[in-house]
Amino acid sequence: MSDALVLEAHAKINLTLEILGKRHDGYHNLVSVMQTVDLHDTVRLAPAHDISLDCSDPALAGDDNLALRAARALVEVCDPGQGVRITLEKRIPVAAGLGGGSADAAAVLRGLNEMWDAGLSGGEMASLALALGADVPFLLRGGTALVQGRGDDVTPLPSAAMEWIVILSPEIDVADKTAVLFARVTPQQYTRGLLSHKLAGRIRARSDTPAQLFFNAFEQVADEAFPGLADYRSGLESVGAADMVLSGAGPSMFAVPPSREVGVAWQLLLQNRGWRAELVRPWWPDDGTDEG
Ligand code: C5P
Repeated sequence: MSDALVLEAHAKINLTLEILGKRHDGYHNLVSVMQTVDLHDTVRLAPAHDISLDCSDPALAGDDNLALRAARALVEVCDPGQGVRITLEKRIPVAAGLGGGSADAAAVLRGLNEMWDAGLSGGEMASLALALGADVPFLLRGGTALVQGRGDDVTPLPSAAMEWIVILSPEIDVADKTAVLFARVTPQQYTRGLLSHKLAGRIRARSDTPAQLFFNAFEQVADEAFPGLADYRSGLESVGAADMVLSGAGPSMFAVPPSREVGVAWQLLLQNRGWRAELVRPWWPDDGTDEG
C-alpha cells in the first residue's frame, strides 16, 4: 500500500458574487470572482481497508461529512480495492461562507485520485466535485478564478493584486444556511454579472483589484437571515472597516486593508470584542502557471 498524503485545503472568499436568475433545476446561475487565501485546513489521507474520518472538531465527524462523501464518490467511479483513513485538522471557521467543507472535499478528491492512481481526467474530477457542492470545482485548484453557472464553469485568472485581507467570521449559526439564503433572494437581487466581468477584466489586464467592484447579492437578505449580523456591522464601522463585503452565503465578511499595519489593527480591535477575525494573504497554487 502507498504512503500517507498530507494536503492543504484552502479557504476561499468571493470578491464578487452575482446571482443572474433561477434555473429550471431549482439552482441559480451565478457569476463570481473567487480567491483562495492562506488560511487552510490540513487533510491527511492514510491507506486503510475501510473509509473512515477523524476530525479535530468532533461535531463535524458525522457520516454526512463532505470529505467522506468525496471519498465514497471516488470509490464508486474507480473501484480502488482499498479504503482511506481521512484526518481533518480544521482551522477554517465552519459554515461561515469560506468554503471550508468544500475545500476539504476537493483536497480528498485530488489526493485520492493520486493515491489510488485513479487517473480521472480534469472533466471527470470536475463533475464529481460539482455533485458535492457548487464551490468544490473551483477549490480543486484554487487561486483566482471567474466562476459561472452553478459553480461548474471555472475560468482561471492571473493572480489578483491584493496583499492582505481581514476576514471577520460572526458566530451565528443558521441551519441549511445556503439554501435558506437562496430562498430569500428575489429577482430584485438579480444582476447581470457586469461587475464580476469588469473585475475579471481588470485582473486579466494585471491592473488593480478595486474594492469598489466587490459585491455580494446576498448582502440585502443577510441581515434578516442572520440574527445579530447588524451588531457586527456596527462594530466594523467603529474600527473603520465599514466597507466589509459578505463572502459566499456568509456570515463571514472581508475587507482589504490599505496596509498590513491597518490590517493588524482591525484584526486586534475586532478580536478585542471577542470576535473571530483573521488577517490572511491571498493564496495561489504552486503549479508553475499563473492562470491554470
Ligand atoms: O452547492 P451547495 O451544496 O453549496 O448548495 C446548497 C444549496 O444552495 C442548494 O441546495 C440550493 O438550494 C442552493 N444553490 C442554488 N444555486 C447554486 C448553488 C446553490 O440555488 N448555484
